[in-house]
Amino acid sequence: MQAKGITVSINTDIPPEPGVLDFNRIVAEARKFGPDGVIGFGGGSVLDIAKLVAALHDRPEPVNIFFGIGLLPERRTYLVCIPTTAGTGSEVSPNAILLDESEQLKKGVISPWLVPDAAYVDPLFTLSVPPAVTAATGIDAMVHCIEAYANRFAHPMVDVFALEGIRLISANLQRTVEHGQDIEARTAVALGSLYGGMCLGPVNTAAVHALAYPLGSEFHMAHGLSNALLLTHVLRFNLPAAPRRYAEIAIALGVAPEPTDIATAEAGLARIEQLCAACGIPRNLAACNVPESAIPRMAAAAMKVTRLLKNNPRELTFADAETIYRQAFQA
Ligand SMILES: NC(=O)c1ccc[n+]([C@@H]2O[C@H](COP(=O)([O-])OP(=O)(O)OC[C@H]3O[C@@H](n4cnc5c(N)ncnc54)[C@H](O)[C@@H]3O)[C@@H](O)[C@H]2O)c1
Ligand SMILES: [Fe+2]
Repeated sequence: MQAKGITVSINTDIPPEPGVLDFNRIVAEARKFGPDGVIGFGGGSVLDIAKLVAALHDRPEPVNIFFGIGLLPERRTYLVCIPTTAGTGSEVSPNAILLDESEQLKKGVISPWLVPDAAYVDPLFTLSVPPAVTAATGIDAMVHCIEAYANRFAHPMVDVFALEGIRLISANLQRTVEHGQDIEARTAVALGSLYGGMCLGPVNTAAVHALAYPLGSEFHMAHGLSNALLLTHVLRFNLPAAPRRYAEIAIALGVAPEPTDIATAEAGLARIEQLCAACGIPRNLAACNVPESAIPRMAAAAMKVTRLLKNNPRELTFADAETIYRQAFQA
């Protein structure tokens, strides 16, 4: 497409939860085109591909050598991200996630060079997101905030984004699921998602995301849904390690303080369960056709996500991961 002296190449062929093979196909097209700038317009799946295309279309190396933290040396192409879901916060984060089909593992390229030059967040783009995707992506955003707040590397400046993100999403997500055209609620959740994205660079997520990845890799479950199904089980495991932090999260979720931090935090977990149910999130892994026999395999895969497990407030072993999957299986 050409207009006003600008030639534009558009790719609308990016699947949800993309993998390395999808990326290779799309970056090959971009290499032929040689863009001066890249605009990602879509959900997190599209934004992550756009970020990697901008960084790698003018380099010969395969993407897999950049999986990990801080391995990408630079990005020379201008990058804009425009989210159409309220979930990943990818438009402001240094992360891009791909399924590595060779190991059946979701992996991340984490680099400051992947933070876009410009992000344009307009909640009107999210009005058409269907209820189930609205629910899953909104819970993902809330998990970014929760896992950044109760995190070994939590930071006072990031705490501000995290608590406000939790408040905005907890108070408005059900409204966006039930009334997709509610612009006020969509705006609040889009802002909460942006705040969640601000948590990802400096602090990042922890065991909820680490245990969620194998559900995406093996069963192609949507990222937000896999987080939602594990959320309260991981938090219940973590609670003894950070009762004050989880109590503060509970207050941000909208619950009244109880006499002890543990009791307040427990009330917060009940609020999350109630919110997920009200948003139509399935109760457990069994209801999503995940076989119980996959649990040891998923626990082994989750243990490889050390870049996130190291952030978790409580150390988590293979046996703990198995127990958490079993709880999530039959909850
Ligand atoms: N880079 C990061 O910081 C980061 C953070 C969290 C998750 N992720 C990754 O992002 C991906 C998930 O992104 P997502 O949760 O935004 O979902 P998604 O991009 O996969 O989109 C989910 C579905 O919603 C549709 N959709 C998107 N916008 C729409 C709209 N406005 N109206 C109607 N339909 C719309 C998509 O076509 C798709 O079918 C996963 O691969 C996950 O691992 C990245
Ligand atoms: Fe996420």
